[in-house]
Amino acid sequence: MNTKTTLISQEALDRQFGYCDKIAAFFSQQGITPKAYVETYGCQQNEADSEKLRGYLSQCGYAMAEEAEGADVVVMNTCAIREHAEQRVFGNLGALTHTKRRHPGQKIFLCGCMAGEDKVVSRIKTSFPHVDGVFSTHHLWQFPEILYTVLTGKKRVFSVADEPGSIAEGIPQVRSSGLKAWVSIMYGCNNFCTYCIVPYVRGRERSRQPECILEECRALIESGVKDITLLGQNVNSYGKDLSCGVDFADLLEQIAQIPGDFLIRFMTSHPRDASNKLFDTMAKYPKIAKQLHLPFQSGSSRVLKAMNRHYDRETYLEKVHYAKAVMPELVLTSDVIVGFPGETEEEFEETISLIQQVHYDSLFTFIFSPRTGTPAAKMEDPTPKEEKNRRFDRLCQVQNTISEEIHKNYIGSVQRCLIDGKDGALLTARTEGGRLVRFPGDEQLIGTFARLRITGATTWSLTGELE
Ligand code: SAH
Ligand code: SF4
Ligand code: F3S
Repeated sequence: MNTKTTLISQEALDRQFGYCDKIAAFFSQQGITPKAYVETYGCQQNEADSEKLRGYLSQCGYAMAEEAEGADVVVMNTCAIREHAEQRVFGNLGALTHTKRRHPGQKIFLCGCMAGEDKVVSRIKTSFPHVDGVFSTHHLWQFPEILYTVLTGKKRVFSVADEPGSIAEGIPQVRSSGLKAWVSIMYGCNNFCTYCIVPYVRGRERSRQPECILEECRALIESGVKDITLLGQNVNSYGKDLSCGVDFADLLEQIAQIPGDFLIRFMTSHPRDASNKLFDTMAKYPKIAKQLHLPFQSGSSRVLKAMNRHYDRETYLEKVHYAKAVMPELVLTSDVIVGFPGETEEEFEETISLIQQVHYDSLFTFIFSPRTGTPAAKMEDPTPKEEKNRRFDRLCQVQNTISEEIHKNYIGSVQRCLIDGKDGALLTARTEGGRLVRFPGDEQLIGTFARLRITGATTWSLTGELE
């Protein structure tokens, strides 16, 4: 396996920009401004990739459209994490036969994590002839060339070969918000949790150079961005593939020292690599949000071993205990899987007890979904679907009660929030931990931090007033 990260050369990127120019000329000669629609599924990593797709598209002269109807290019940036996610994409992809019939020049592309699966690529080749191109995440940087080939060559393009890890710096980005920004600090994953498809479709871990990340963050802050989320499948292993001796805590510290009024957060942290050094760094800098997404997946050490997570219940709890001790105000969230193959009723109860012990602010809850090619898909799974649904409902109930209780405890407290928009007559803001607060105020406050006194709470949001 090739684990060496290569940087895509400036020359190779310039060639892509050359295709952007050719596409822009192709349309301007016809006197039209083409429209592009990018639909994003899945996680923030895909959101960040879509900002690059839009960056390329606007450099090619496209205006962004809000829907597929009437668009000259449609790009579906897909997610493969669960069966349900894929079914949705196939359904929506099928519906594009109609938009294409009404607008025959429409070019349709599928990219993202599903494009990294052989079975998906074969199905598109044979059963979705209206799709003009498919490219995996390894080939996103070559999108202008793929688009140009489709526009001029009247043939379908499949750029799905598995490539050794590479990083492309300098792809333009059209960001969806002026206040908040995603910054990918690394790509891929080496963990091979037995249920997960991500390492197969996104390849090995590759870290960006710290200087490139710092430069991007500085530019964002100068342009008025107030809330930066650093992205990676496992940010805690940042830098392991670099030889510069900078680990994730060091990187966070360097970003937190950039002058300006902003908050920095990150996801996702793998509990195995989450260190006390990281928690100490978080505690030390006011610019690092006291928010931690630390997926535990299961409360049973036996199940965790079968998942290949490399930590057990006790070490997980120790880490949480330390993090809460150094950051008493910490907002803690997590992911959990119900119904992993062979999970017994007792093991499920261990998950419930862990949730009750830790008291998460909120949880992302999933029922195990077998993914072809992963070890867990071949494990014996005798638990009936109805039983898994019952466990899932019980888990959600337990968490909802906890979330409600935590929310009620906000009442009377004062929270520093970023005011980020409007909802009817009220303004909306987010607490450091990402909670939504609605409150009355002047529109001019949007884009600033303010202290809000919390006056009310439901399970999902808070109400407040300026202090
Ligand atoms: N890299 C992150 C998670 C990315 S995927 C991490 O390790 O924490 C987001 C979540 O989807 C995972 O945390 C897991 O809870 C869930 N997930 C992944 N594969 C799944 C599967 N096959 N079935 C059900 N849930 C899954
Ligand atoms: Fe998937 Fe595990 Fe990697 Fe997360 S750490 S992306 S769950 S393999
Ligand atoms: Fe989905 Fe790919 Fe993210 S599988 S969750 S979009 S990394």
